[in-house]
Amino acid sequence: MGAMDAATRRLLAELAAHGQEHDAREGDHARRLLNLEPDTAQLVSILVANGRRTRLLELGTSNGLSAIWLAHAARPFGGRLISIERDAAKRAQAEVNLRRAGLLGGVELLLGDAAALLDTLVGPFDCVFFDADRRLYPEQLARLLPKLTPDCLLLADNVLSHPEEIAPYLAAIDALPDFAHVIVPTGKGLSVAYRGAPGNP
Ligand SMILES: C[S@@+](CC[C@H](N)C(=O)[O-])C[C@H]1O[C@@H](n2cnc3c(N)ncnc32)[C@H](O)[C@@H]1O
Repeated sequence: MGAMDAATRRLLAELAAHGQEHDAREGDHARRLLNLEPDTAQLVSILVANGRRTRLLELGTSNGLSAIWLAHAARPFGGRLISIERDAAKRAQAEVNLRRAGLLGGVELLLGDAAALLDTLVGPFDCVFFDADRRLYPEQLARLLPKLTPDCLLLADNVLSHPEEIAPYLAAIDALPDFAHVIVPTGKGLSVAYRGAPGNP
């Protein structure tokens, strides 16, 4: 991952503060930014960098805060991120923010419903971050399984904040025999599932 430069650090701090202020005054849940909490974002970026993930998929871009963390962590290995958002205004903000971070070149921002777009994705992906519509994760996971690399990291936020909504996803992960799975109680609770390539568990 390398040390994060001061400008990127400042941008992430600015975006984190903006997200909190915006969400505190925004009554419409759909318009909230709902950014990853800083510790969770840091953990996600460590996992991506440590695992040298290069083919990343994010469901739920919002205004791009987590996309900056993901793309920054993957950049030293030439990693690329595809991120999906259905809200055009948020996607537009994400583009601005990723450009400010100097990371837009490694990121493809798709506008649309993840349910509709998943089948258009070729893959393969070695890291998927689920951060959109929790009730749909099990179905999305099933559709993504054929598009995952053998060595693969699956992440999902909100395990502790929305336990009932995410329970079917956790059960689906636990039913996969080849994934190790742990819930990390950081921020809103991060599900971390990892499958090593055969011979490298
Ligand atoms: C929790 S926020 C994502 C936050 C972002 N990952 C971050 O940390 O900065 C969830 C986002 O997913 C989007 N979303 C929800 N359901 C979606 C769907 N089915 N397809 C695409 N985007 C969706 C919402 O508009 C919202 O912006």
